[in-house]
Amino acid sequence: MNSINSKNIYTDRLDLRIPTMKEQHRLWEILSNEEINKFYFPTPDRIFKKNNLSKDNISDLKKARKIFMEQLQDWPRQQPFYEKKIESINNQEDSQKFTWSIFLKDTDIVIGQMTCQPKDNNIKDIRDVGWFIDPNYQGKGYATEAALAILDFMFNEVEISDIFTGAAEINPSSWKIMEKLGFEFTGYKKSTYFKDDKILILKEYHGNKELFLNRTTVKFKNIRKHF
Ligand SMILES: CC(C)(COP(=O)(O)OP(=O)(O)OC[C@H]1O[C@@H](n2cnc3c(N)ncnc32)[C@H](O)[C@@H]1OP(=O)(O)O)[C@@H](O)C(=O)NCCC(=O)NCCS
Repeated sequence: MNSINSKNIYTDRLDLRIPTMKEQHRLWEILSNEEINKFYFPTPDRIFKKNNLSKDNISDLKKARKIFMEQLQDWPRQQPFYEKKIESINNQEDSQKFTWSIFLKDTDIVIGQMTCQPKDNNIKDIRDVGWFIDPNYQGKGYATEAALAILDFMFNEVEISDIFTGAAEINPSSWKIMEKLGFEFTGYKKSTYFKDDKILILKEYHGNKELFLNRTTVKFKNIRKHF
């Protein structure tokens, strides 16, 4: 894996920019919407531990989620985390944390975020991907366009080896992107997400450069990228 820093990436319809503090409040507003975070942001382990709650029982899952939502929706509480993240990205010392703010091309309209973070802090070339798009801009192919461009960068320039990721089974708008990127389905896993009184299952995927190059069903002939 190469030790190179994040770059701005430009696709036909989007600018994927290195994040700045300027757009973080808007991104937080999008992310604090439960429709967006319910299958994006798992309830952290620390909430279960601190409150002595179990991940196996629906009423505890709901309690833990409620506590997490109160924290997540509190901007003064969240702001220092955002500032720290931006500072470490700007210092480039944390160049291994790849995150992009997604803007509509040539505008300052921020519509979402892409991340490609180490799966385990000690192994930097095995990563997870994450994405969210403002509900006002969903269903237009923007997440697919952004994901294709950042994975091209991650596999071909940074040269990471593998992606292991997953999405709730009932969240096809996310796992369909994984399939379009050429990732292979590896199995199901229980999650801490729930809908009504049911604990949800995740569909898990694996990707690498070979799968990305050979099985991607969306091609750069439609989605050009320029660094
Ligand atoms: C997942 C998400 C980023 C997709 O963003 P998007 O820009 O709408 O995605 P795209 O337009 O590129 O569409 C992706 C695929 O999902 C499909 N899709 C979109 N909405 C859908 C829906 N409600 N039901 C079924 N499929 C849907 C699209 O048709 C497309 O597949 P196709 O090419 O086979 O038609 C967006 O829905 C989101 O932000 N969700 C909340 C956060 C989240 O769940 N993140 C992922 C966590 S794993």
